[in-house]
Amino acid sequence: MTEAEMVPIYIMGKRYTVPGALTIMGALEYAGYKLIRGVGCRAAFCGACATVYRIEDDPKLYVGLACGTQVQPGMHLTQIPFYPAERAQYRLDELEPTFATLVKLYPQVLKCLGCGTCTKSCPQDLQVKDYMAAAMRGDIARLADLSFDCIMCGMCVSRCPAEEAQPNIAILGRRLYGRYLAPKAQHLAERVAEIEQGEYDDELAQMKALPEAELRQRYNTRDIEPE
Ligand code: FES
Repeated sequence: MTEAEMVPIYIMGKRYTVPGALTIMGALEYAGYKLIRGVGCRAAFCGACATVYRIEDDPKLYVGLACGTQVQPGMHLTQIPFYPAERAQYRLDELEPTFATLVKLYPQVLKCLGCGTCTKSCPQDLQVKDYMAAAMRGDIARLADLSFDCIMCGMCVSRCPAEEAQPNIAILGRRLYGRYLAPKAQHLAERVAEIEQGEYDDELAQMKALPEAELRQRYNTRDIEPE
């Protein structure tokens, strides 16, 4: 198929012919849908555009982000703009970074079957089953690490036979890790203290008085730290 070729697709059961180079999101708009839900960043970051689809004569149910998945001939698709999931209420500064906290806020964590449907349904290819296993072990650092790229699209929730709320459990893990467990950067604490003591006030005032062109020039020629 060349990129210029038109391809037949089905949007919620209705047939359309759309340019084969389009993403699902582009095809929805090409077909005349005005997207007011199920769309956000258009760059595979916000998780608003979770989509399920099948290809004709293929029993498999595929998942993807509408903004980042190219259409295919014979695609039958529909979007899942929002999927309800348990979301615990808490104040982070009142919690402890422990297994007990995870289970208290999300008791269903212990009901995970380990079936792996969540991992199969993640459009980001995250190891959702593995981060849920980390949650069941109380390994908050691993939960935070494995779920770091979750964009909260909710696709795993929609397929989970144990009715887990994986993205919400994962974000609790990342919050606990960031607040209590991540190593603190000593140099950052020192720099913040210097700023609070006014060590940079004069320099900052001078810079604020500079014309924009001078500021841009300084920015573009600044020393950049090696990686
Ligand atoms: S619109 Fe944000 S991920 Fe697709």
